[in-house]
Amino acid sequence: MAVLLKTNDLTKKYGKKMVVDNLNIEIEEGEVFGLLGPNGAGKSTTMNMICGIVKPTLGNVEFMGKDFQKNRKELIDKLGFIPQELAIHGNLKAWENVELFTSLYGIKGAELKERIDESLEYVGLIEKRNDYAKTFSGGMKRRLNIACAIGHHPKLMIFDEPTVGIDPQSRNFILDKIKDSNKKGATIIYTSHYMEEVEAICTRIAIMDNGKIIATGTSDELKKMVKDDISSITLEEVFLTMTGKKLRDY
Ligand SMILES: Nc1ncnc2c1ncn2[C@@H]1O[C@H](COP(=O)(O)OP(=O)(O)OP(=O)(O)O)[C@@H](O)[C@H]1O
Ligand SMILES: [Mg+2]
Repeated sequence: MAVLLKTNDLTKKYGKKMVVDNLNIEIEEGEVFGLLGPNGAGKSTTMNMICGIVKPTLGNVEFMGKDFQKNRKELIDKLGFIPQELAIHGNLKAWENVELFTSLYGIKGAELKERIDESLEYVGLIEKRNDYAKTFSGGMKRRLNIACAIGHHPKLMIFDEPTVGIDPQSRNFILDKIKDSNKKGATIIYTSHYMEEVEAICTRIAIMDNGKIIATGTSDELKKMVKDDISSITLEEVFLTMTGKKLRDY
């Protein structure tokens, strides 16, 4: 498989605090790559650097074989970013939100109309197209946030904790859609601190703590690093053994 995205010693410091520490990861075309880590591990900062929203202190990102920062204009429409913080506007209707983001990629006219409907259909909000985003539930806002990032048909989709704080139905809907997009050819990066989600949808998982990747592999490979009998260990326990910490507080 070809490498689609690669980070080279990607580093972010805020003041003296090392938030992302010399990160070297490779995402292969066609995979669902999971970045699993507790609050404050540096997942969002990593994703924001990959998308060019946060400037690295050191290091760079190669996307489709090219330096992303230096070739941003050419590469930006190959990437779809669903940020952890909702990026939608409450005072715009659902379709207007999708229009705003999709048109940024130069899509116009009849094609733009088609893409708006297709994106809203995809996230199950086509019937709510004329409703203002501020009237939506948390789960519906999350789904609209996704619709805004997919209208330009990105090759790589980056989801930063898209299921936090939403109802189980919306959560399962989003996970199914991510799997479906992957089947149709998109490569996915998925960050979460929910072990069971990462295990359910990711083909490969990187465990992150304190700005560092501690281990990378399939769920079974990670378990094997800790215990021979993988049926008797969960990823939560793998995380606890590797870091001495719980993945999340209950
Ligand atoms: N703009 C900023 N200025 C200063 N510190 C920051 C900034 N952004 C993030 N940090 C710090 O960097 C660390 C990593 O934050 P980040 O948001 O990347 O973690 P995360 O893994 O995404 O966590 P969560 O699961 O809570 O979303 C945290 O300690 C955070 O306080
Ligand atoms: Mg985060």
